[in-house]
Amino acid sequence: MDLKGRSLLTLKDYKAEEIDYLINLAAELKAKKKQGILGDSLKGKNIALIFEKPSTRTRCAFTVGCIDEGGHPEYLGKDDIQLGHKESIEDTARVLGRMFDGIQFRGYSQETVEKLAQYSKVPVWNGLTDTYHPTQILADLLTLKEQFGTLKGLKLVYVGDGRNNISNSLMIGTSKLGINYTILAPKSLWPNQELIETCKQYAKESGSWIEISDSLDGVEGADAIYTDVWCSMGEEALAAERIAILKPYQVNPALIEKTKKENTILLHCLPAVKGNEVTEEVFERFADVIFDEAENRMHTIKAVMVATIGK
Ligand code: CP
Ligand code: NVA
Repeated sequence: MDLKGRSLLTLKDYKAEEIDYLINLAAELKAKKKQGILGDSLKGKNIALIFEKPSTRTRCAFTVGCIDEGGHPEYLGKDDIQLGHKESIEDTARVLGRMFDGIQFRGYSQETVEKLAQYSKVPVWNGLTDTYHPTQILADLLTLKEQFGTLKGLKLVYVGDGRNNISNSLMIGTSKLGINYTILAPKSLWPNQELIETCKQYAKESGSWIEISDSLDGVEGADAIYTDVWCSMGEEALAAERIAILKPYQVNPALIEKTKKENTILLHCLPAVKGNEVTEEVFERFADVIFDEAENRMHTIKAVMVATIGK
């Protein structure tokens, strides 16, 4: 499969086979690293890592993944460059595109990451915007595959802020790969209707379904529950309001019980606010798989870089 030169701005731009290919490549690179075998696919390549918002996993995954393959990462924090205030996004993109082989962007607007790709003319990877977080979902899919051996037909139930970057991207990734996706959230936090319609079309093609409900009964039969913070980066002012409406949607022992299953797992993209979206006890019960998921950020992001700019 040839993904050379491609950006990853949203999973909408990737076919199911391409997503599958990236997950399998990540599994291969992970197995090799466990045996002490590293590659040199990024030798001579330089990548820029632009961060308007903070990050632990994404930044470290790009850094370690790049160095493991012989490349050089350069971190550009929000106070290091003038992106969008003293220098236009278009100009910064044209400069970086002349020096770097690939650019990661984490920030607020999806439009910014799209402009960076358009003007830099090198592959741009979306490391999270307000709207999407595609590289996270690749790690989630790899983790589900490791846990269940297969993805098609699984039931993944997302509980919490049903219209944030994680839920939006999960809905795209799961519907493309044939995973049944349920969102349990108050109606005011349901995803945008246009995105739901787009994903329902993907689900139709892959033979899966999407269900959105405000009733917690929808958790029954879940193979995996997924939750995320109630207030995403940039929404800090909404904290009190969110806690008030999302309190019933906390992942706690009673919710796990409602799955009526013995082997349901919990995923969380992290960072977690324990006591809000998940209780400490439930989080610790599933810590092994949640930290596998965090580790898988590195293997999947490495796969994206190797596939799009590697030799
Ligand atoms: N899950 C995730 O994107 O984590 P960071 O914010 O630490 O990068
Ligand atoms: N929805 C969260 C995800 C963090 C990885 C946020 O945007 O802050």
